[in-house]
Amino acid sequence: MTFNPLKEKGLPLEKQLRNWHQIIAKPYKKQKVDCYTRTRHILMNGIEVEGWGFKHQFNRFMTDIDDKDRANISRIGRIENQQQMTCNWMCPEDQSVLETTLGYEQVAVDLTAWLAQNEPDKYVKETFNFGLLEDFDHLYRYAQYAYMREGVEPNDIVQGMTDVITGRPTQHHHNCNGLRLRKHYDKTTASPQTKVNILTVLSGEQQTHNFYAEHGFMYGDHVLRETYAEIKDVEEEHVTMYESLIDPSETMLEKLLLHEFTEVCNYYTCVEDEVDDEIKKYWELFLDIELGHLQLVSDMFKKYEKRDPEEVIGSEVIIPCRFQSQKTYVQKILEKEVNKRLAPDGEYYKSIEEIPDDWASYAVQERVAEISSPSENSINVVEFYNDRDIIEAGETLKNRQVDILEKGLQKVSVAKNTVGPHKLQEMIDTHEQRKSEKEKLI
Ligand SMILES: [Fe+2]
Ligand SMILES: [Fe+2]
Ligand SMILES: [Fe+2]
Ligand SMILES: [Fe+2]
Repeated sequence: MTFNPLKEKGLPLEKQLRNWHQIIAKPYKKQKVDCYTRTRHILMNGIEVEGWGFKHQFNRFMTDIDDKDRANISRIGRIENQQQMTCNWMCPEDQSVLETTLGYEQVAVDLTAWLAQNEPDKYVKETFNFGLLEDFDHLYRYAQYAYMREGVEPNDIVQGMTDVITGRPTQHHHNCNGLRLRKHYDKTTASPQTKVNILTVLSGEQQTHNFYAEHGFMYGDHVLRETYAEIKDVEEEHVTMYESLIDPSETMLEKLLLHEFTEVCNYYTCVEDEVDDEIKKYWELFLDIELGHLQLVSDMFKKYEKRDPEEVIGSEVIIPCRFQSQKTYVQKILEKEVNKRLAPDGEYYKSIEEIPDDWASYAVQERVAEISSPSENSINVVEFYNDRDIIEAGETLKNRQVDILEKGLQKVSVAKNTVGPHKLQEMIDTHEQRKSEKEKLI
């Protein structure tokens, strides 16, 4: 049986205000939490931040709605704000910034991989695959620091569900802004699934950017601070890329409707998937709250646009984010597309070999890494701790690491401190040799 959100009443807005005790949930235990409970709370925080911010933009820009509706938008915005606190503050005080950061990149990898496989629009799917390999590399870079500074191993956070190994090297994620702009969908023909998929990943990427902006300075280690800065700048590019897929001619009311529908779909999925009974109660409540928001904004959509909301969101709930291990899919895309780059005009993606000598991103990459690339330094520094980089993957992928790096590295605009394939192979060999020497002594 399908679930049609437009047929549900949800919790009426006047019953949605909660007290402080209800707003602030009990934090999970970082040693016990399921990694996908953590990714759900991280993603839903991002979705609430977007939902809250959009209400403010709506009331700032909308001229022709009456006072009662404007007041309702403002009241809904306050409820989003309360939900955001509940979602984000599930995080316990002893989960470090780096541990949370690994959680953020696990969200990006496993969410984007899911979306790519469930995206009906081929071009949007290709864009998801492209972004996927960048966040995959961020996870690997941050994992080096988590190990060096805090003794945290990747599986302490990702619990064996996500591989942690070289992706498209982060130093090559810096592009000319114009190249990040993609071709947008057509609002009249795009499916609700495409619209919800994009808004979901966009919300996640935006919050990742905000998290790095607000926490990257919390470490004294200068190389790590620079790495947060470098990756934050890539997340800014990801926001630019994903938002450019949205048809800018959608009306504000149409966007409002899509925002509430996206919240409904995501909480619906959280309810279906959650394994923590206490946290599931919040997802159930928040689904009910969002159905209430959807009712209100659907009425506004009908009143002002004289259109049926079904034209925009359809008549069925959509599953945007089934969190589950995506290792096989990610490995396939990694092997095939690590050498992809953004081609001019927003139409195509090209391989390193196909991009022109005057590709606009080369100049950006040379400028930002003219001293060095911080994300490459993550590997240079970890060598002192472990002889080689920290990775977590199956044997097949581990054995492919040097070849994948070779394929993903550009020949030009490469930072001076780059750990290239030869250097990486040396590090791997040294590590193996010292490991066997050490074993003789234990
Ligand atoms: Fe919300
Ligand atoms: Fe990322
Ligand atoms: Fe990202
Ligand atoms: Fe909402």
